[in-house]
Amino acid sequence: MDSHKQLKIGLFGFGVVGEGLYRVLQQTPSLKAELRRVCIKHSGKKRNAPESLFTTEKDLLLNDPEINVIVEVIDDADAAFDIVSTALLNGKDVVSASKKMIAEHLEELLELQAKTGRSLLYESAACASIPVIRNLEEYYDNDLLHSIKAIVNGSTNFILTKIFEEGLDFKQALILAQQLGFAESNPVLDVEGYDAANKWTFLLTHAYGIKVKPEELLFNGIQHIHAGDAQVARSRNQQIRLVAQAQKLQNGEVAAFVLPQFVKDDDHLSFVKNEYNGVVIESGFADKQFFYGKGAGSLPTASAVLSDIAALRYQYKYEYKKLYHHKPHQLAKDTYLRVFVSFDDLKHIPREKFEWIEEWHAQEERKYLVGVIAFRELQENNWWRQNNNSLILAADPVIEDVEIRKLKKRSLELAGVF
Ligand code: HSE
Repeated sequence: MDSHKQLKIGLFGFGVVGEGLYRVLQQTPSLKAELRRVCIKHSGKKRNAPESLFTTEKDLLLNDPEINVIVEVIDDADAAFDIVSTALLNGKDVVSASKKMIAEHLEELLELQAKTGRSLLYESAACASIPVIRNLEEYYDNDLLHSIKAIVNGSTNFILTKIFEEGLDFKQALILAQQLGFAESNPVLDVEGYDAANKWTFLLTHAYGIKVKPEELLFNGIQHIHAGDAQVARSRNQQIRLVAQAQKLQNGEVAAFVLPQFVKDDDHLSFVKNEYNGVVIESGFADKQFFYGKGAGSLPTASAVLSDIAALRYQYKYEYKKLYHHKPHQLAKDTYLRVFVSFDDLKHIPREKFEWIEEWHAQEERKYLVGVIAFRELQENNWWRQNNNSLILAADPVIEDVEIRKLKKRSLELAGVF
C-alpha cells in the first residue's frame, strides 16, 4: 500500500465550495496534495487564486495522466455526471459534492466503480461537515440500525430558524441563506425538499442497502408551513423541522420519507438551528447517538471534501456493505403516519382517507386536525400539498400495521366527533 501517495488534483468548479477547498488545501500542506488545475465554466472572472491555475478545457484535466484525483464541485448535475464518469473510466479517483447527480445516477455510478476499480467518495454531498456516510458504511456494519432521523438541508433549517425564532419573513430569510452561500443556485431545490430527498436516497443506500430514485421517495419541503403551524408547535413545547427519517419496522422493511415534522423541545434535533445539520441514529445496544455539525457553507463543505481527498491517500473506497454484503432492506409501503394538517377550508380535506382523526380544531380561522393516515395515501395523492393545506408529521410519526389494528377500535369512538 502506498500510504504516501502523492495526490495530484484536477478541480472542477470554483464557486462557494471550490474556492473553500482551495483555501483549505493551502492550509494543509501535510496532505501532500497538489492542485494542478482548476476547470471553470466562464473565464475572465476575477478569482482569488493564480490565473495560471484556471482553464475552461475539461479535457486538460480529464486526459492529464499526471492528475490522479478529480474533485468535482460544480452545480450542474448532468455536466457533473459526465465529468465523474469520464474521470473514473480514465482511471482516476473522484471526489464529488454533487448530491443531485449522485442521487439521480447512483446505479450507473455503482457500475462504474465496480468496472473501473476506482474510488468515488462523496462525504460532503450529505450533511457537509458531518461524517455520516463513512459512519454508516463502516461503523454501523450490522443489522442493528433501528432508525435514522436527520436534518440534512441547511438552508431550510436556516430559514425556519430565522422565521420562527428571529421574526424574519420567508423572503428575507431565503435571501440571507443565498448570500451566505447555503442555498442551491435554484433555491426551489432546498425549499421544496428536493435537495434533502436527493441526499436521503444515497444515505439510505449506505444505511440499509436501499436503492431508490428521489422521485420514488415520499417527500415535501417547507413551502406549505404556516405561521399558525409554528404557534401550534410552540403551544405543545415542540418545533418544526424538515426531517429525513428511516425506521426499520417489525417485518424488516424500512419506512423512509422526508417531510416537515414536529420535534419535541427535548429532542436532539430541536437543538439543530440555522445552517447546522443533525443526525440521530438509534441502534441496538447503543441506544441513541447524535451527530451535529454545519451542513452547508464554504469551509464546512470543503472540510468534508478534504477528508475524502485524504482518504484517497490510503486508497479508501466505499464497499456499499449493506448492498453487497448484507441482504438489502426493502422500503415499506404499508405503514401509517400520524399527521397534523392545517387548512383553510374543510372541503379540501378528504376526511374519509384518514384511518381516524384524533384532534379537531375547527373554530380558528386556520383550522387543523391530527389524524392517522396510510403512508400509501400520501405517496399516491397530492391533496395534502394543494389548496393551502399544510401537512406536518407528528413527533414519532410511524405507526406499524400491527399497532393500527389495536388502536383502531378506540379511535373509531373518537371519530364520533364528526
Ligand atoms: N443547499 C444545501 C443545503 C447545501 O442548504 O443544505 C449543502 O448541501
